[in-house]
Order: sequence, then structure tokens, then C-alpha cells
Amino acid sequence: MILTVTLNVAVDKAYVIEGPLQAGEVMRVKTCSNTAGGKGLNVSKVIGLCGEEVLATGFTGGFNGAYVEKLLTEKGIPNEFVHVKGETRSCINILDGDGKSTEFLEPGAPVTAEEEAAFLRKFETLLPKCSVVTMSGSAPKGLPADIYGKLIAMGKKAGVKMILDTSGQYLIEGVKAKPFLIKPNHDEIAQLLGRPAETMEEMLESAKELHRSGIPYVVISLGADGAAVVCGEGVYTARPPKIQAVNTVGCGDSMVGAMAAALERGYGVEEMLRYAVAVSSANAMNLETGYFRQEDMEENLKQVIVEKIG
Ligand SMILES: Nc1ncnc2c1ncn2[C@@H]1O[C@H](COP(=O)(O)OP(=O)(O)OP(=O)(O)O)[C@@H](O)[C@H]1O
Ligand SMILES: [Mg+2]
Repeated sequence: MILTVTLNVAVDKAYVIEGPLQAGEVMRVKTCSNTAGGKGLNVSKVIGLCGEEVLATGFTGGFNGAYVEKLLTEKGIPNEFVHVKGETRSCINILDGDGKSTEFLEPGAPVTAEEEAAFLRKFETLLPKCSVVTMSGSAPKGLPADIYGKLIAMGKKAGVKMILDTSGQYLIEGVKAKPFLIKPNHDEIAQLLGRPAETMEEMLESAKELHRSGIPYVVISLGADGAAVVCGEGVYTARPPKIQAVNTVGCGDSMVGAMAAALERGYGVEEMLRYAVAVSSANAMNLETGYFRQEDMEENLKQVIVEKIG
């Protein structure tokens, strides 16, 4: 089984309005859709679509928390969250008539030390049931910056493959615990380097450095250019076919979900990379985040070009 960790769950609300968004005016919403949000929940949905068994965990609270759980259950995603006092946040994305998108991201209610301890206990009990764990996104206030480091240490002790996909301090602290696989994008590599990575060579150099430090698989995602991986087997790149991108938000999450499924199936690195690029590029081909059509994925799978470059 694959366990997905989403510490900062949200109800994602997409508001479609007719004209341009105008501050200080009454804006009538044409259509509104609510989905279970937070990067780890995108990952969970993709693992489900890949056909692997998944369980979602993290923190939920209040009516919004119960709503997220209901939305997940309706999608056939089993979940076991730790219930906290604070209300799960809402994140609003306003899609206006000018084709612009404006996001309002609530910070999320703080988690207490007791709630953190309850989560660590739950995590410990879930570990023996799984072979891969994904950890995605930011964390609510109240949790330490090295929260993922704690989870990685516990998972490694239990012999579980730990995948970390986060940014900022959570990433900088998390990599110190040497997870099994990380998937930084261009910006996140820069955060790890402490300065922008100007060229592909520079990105690969920093990936090699991270690999040498003890992270078995360092996957760099490069948007429409695909991905590169540095691992014990060598250095590989994978390029997706030219596709009609409709919405690339959550492509990285889809890639993480597909890599978790690939590890669960025992794929080798080339097969894993090909599959992850096929799934994530298929995700870009429709509006919904954390979703892809099987036929798009299968078509992309035939066209992804994987090369061993080192
Ligand atoms: N325009 C695109 N065309 C084809 N494939 C894409 C495109 N954008 C993204 N992808 C696929 O998705 C993968 C991950 O994308 P990206 O590097 O943008 O991740 P990310 O920045 O972590 O995204 P997010 O955090 O929003 O999920 C890429 O490696 C690629 O396979
Ligand atoms: Mg990402």
C-alpha cells in the first residue's frame, strides 16, 4: 500500500466569474466547484487512477475537514486523518472572464504539540502496512520545520521508501534526513542551492551532490521539458511528447503519484521515469488537477523519450 501524507489539507474552491475581477466591487460567482485540496491529495487521486492501493493521512479539522474526507471517500480514496481543533482551511481560485486566475490561500489553523504527537503515533501504526510513503506540500503553523525529517527517520527505520516533495524550509530541513526520493522543480533546486540554477548542467550538478549526500533518487522536474534523475544506476532524462497543455498545476503531484505507483510495482528507473512523465504530461492535458485520462497516458507512454546521459 502507498500512504500519502498531506499536513496542510484544504477545501479548494474554484469560482468562475464573468468579467474581470474588480477590487471593491460585488462579484457574482457564475459557477463554484469544491474539491479536496492540498498537494498530497492530488497525489492520492493519481495513485488511485494508476490502480494502486492508497491511504491518505494528515490533519483535518471541523466541518471543512469532514467535508474533505467526504469528498475523498466519494472519489474512492480511503483516508485516516488526525482530527484537530482548528478548522481545515479553504483556498479560493477565482477564474475571471479575462482568463486570469487569482488565488487566495488561507494559512491554515495552527496544530498543537499534542496534535502533532497524535499524528506521529498514528503514522507509526500505519507504517507497517505500507511500502511507499509520499509527503507533499507545506505544513500548518505549529509544526516544526523538520517535521518531514521526523517522518523520514521513522519510515526509514520501518524499511519504507520515503518520497518527499515540498519546498522552502520544509525541503531544506527534510533532505537532511535523506529520503529515498525527492522531486524538486527548478525553483526548489534553487532553494536547495541557495541561489538560482542557471543551466541544466548546474541543476544536474546539484542533483549529483544531493545523491552523493545519501538520497538514492534525485528527480528534477522540468515542466514541458520533462525530467531528469540522478541515481545509483546513472543519470537519465525523459522528454514528454508535445501536448496541448490545458492546466499544468499539480503536474508535479501527478509525477510523484506515478513514481510511488512505479516503486510499488517494482519498476526499474527507466520504466519509472517513462511512466511518471507519461502520467504527469497526461495530467496537463485537462483542467482537473490530480486527474488524467488513461488513453492520454498510454499515448504519451509510447512517445516519451528516455535517455541515459551519464
Ligand atoms: N507543458 C507541459 N507539457 C508536457 N508535460 C508537462 C508540462 N508541464 C508539466 N509536465 C509534466 O509534469 C512534470 C512535472 O511538472 P513541473 O516540473 O511543472 O512540476 P511542479 O513545478 O512540481 O508542479 P506542481 O508543484 O504544480 O505539481 C514534468 O516533468 C512533465 O513530465
Ligand atoms: Mg511541485
